[in-house]
Amino acid sequence: MKIGELLGIGNTARVYRWGKTEVIKLFYDQNFAVMEAKNAELINSLMLRAPKYGGLVDYEGKKGLIYERIDGPTMLWNIEPSEESMFYNARLMANLQYEIHQVKNKLLPNLKPEITHKINHSQEISNHDKQIITDILASLPDGNSICHYDFHPDNIIMSPNGPIIIDWLNLLAGNPEADVTRTSMMIQSDSLPPNAPGWLMHRESRELFNKEYVSEYIRLTGMNDEFLEEWMIPTLAVRIDEMQGEYRQEIIDKLQTRLKKQDEVDEGN
Ligand SMILES: Nc1ncnc2c1ncn2[C@@H]1O[C@H](COP(=O)(O)OP(=O)(O)O)[C@@H](O)[C@H]1O
Ligand SMILES: [Mg+2]
Repeated sequence: MKIGELLGIGNTARVYRWGKTEVIKLFYDQNFAVMEAKNAELINSLMLRAPKYGGLVDYEGKKGLIYERIDGPTMLWNIEPSEESMFYNARLMANLQYEIHQVKNKLLPNLKPEITHKINHSQEISNHDKQIITDILASLPDGNSICHYDFHPDNIIMSPNGPIIIDWLNLLAGNPEADVTRTSMMIQSDSLPPNAPGWLMHRESRELFNKEYVSEYIRLTGMNDEFLEEWMIPTLAVRIDEMQGEYRQEIIDKLQTRLKKQDEVDEGN
């Protein structure tokens, strides 16, 4: 089959039309293609709002993933620069993620061991800090909820049939608290998608969006918000190697600020 129009450019892949009803996702890194293919098969078997996965093909020497085409803008592009629209979408996002977290799985790589491994292999974190961070992680609760672990407004397509969640490359099973902290961390970050809508440029708007998103998740679960600070140190630590340049530095600085605070608390005890 011949590749069609370019539909989207992400950090890991480009997505093109493929035939009348499908798309092909071509990864820059072939290892990621194999990883996402495995996740996509599992997602296909679960009751989740995800595009139907059609298999792995070879396209001009590269591996391509075939998915059902979902029409519509991503949530990122659907949010209007008004408080009403921002709050509506922030709450919708929390509800969609909450829905995913109700699905449990014991087969997937487990979140805590996976991120412990990543932190231990990071070149940017000292051995001293690795010990502190992995100790914190070990003290946090386990879980076996489906965690998308890259859940943000550009991975939700607002289709005529309702919101559909794409991009399950980072799929893990673990505690929902970890997934919500990761999303909250990403929303607050200065790193924005290329050509992002103007309202996102203002940090205050992103903070407002984050606050509404977190409040809604807390309202749905009856949890208190302490988990966000508890998970933030390992969440930032695992993010470092995914970022480059000034955005990597932003994450390192946030992590160091928190580690320092933690050190002061420990000394006080
Ligand atoms: N099934 C799909 N149907 C239509 N467009 C899609 C589909 N999957 C992805 N896209 C488009 O391609 C973009 C990148 O895809 P995504 O899976 O999020 O890749 P990345 O991992 O690089 O972020 C999306 O933001 C969206 O615009
Ligand atoms: Mg994406």
